[in-house]
Amino acid sequence: MVRNTQFIDLPHWDDDTGSLVAIEAEGTIPFGVQRVYYIFETTPGAHRGFHSHRDLAQLLICVHGSIDIIIDDGCTREQVTLDTPTKGLYIGPYVWREMLNFSDGSVLVVLANHHYDPADYIRDYDQFMQEAPAFFASAGQDGGAR
Ligand code: TYD
Repeated sequence: MVRNTQFIDLPHWDDDTGSLVAIEAEGTIPFGVQRVYYIFETTPGAHRGFHSHRDLAQLLICVHGSIDIIIDDGCTREQVTLDTPTKGLYIGPYVWREMLNFSDGSVLVVLANHHYDPADYIRDYDQFMQEAPAFFASAGQDGGAR
């Protein structure tokens, strides 16, 4: 079980004309949204991410196709699959993530609780392994279990 990660089932409304997902900040997801970005038209074999954040919380949704996500809290590493627009993966602080196995035409939408801040990134895995234990040892940082 990777700490600070959680699958969130997104409420959806389906009828014979199609489906609609609605996400409410601080309702469906446990944070306010200040930024939205998406990753698309990835090249074959693309492997992205390779970082953690010190503070940022995000929700990843594969709105088309399928994408594998490696999540790693410094103790446990798992590979999970996002393959439906009705499921989000919450990733909180101090979770190393990598994205791979992008299916052709896949689109990954990310909601984030802060604006872009390069200083919040940890892009070096050794640095991540130095900082993560202290973060998770501090009170209340054991994260949400999936
Ligand atoms: P990066 O976070 O490295 O992407 P990934 O984790 O998918 O490999 O971001 C790629 C580039 O986009 C990098 O130059 C920074 C820029 N960027 C922004 O300017 N704003 C953003 O909100 C994000 C997520 C990235």
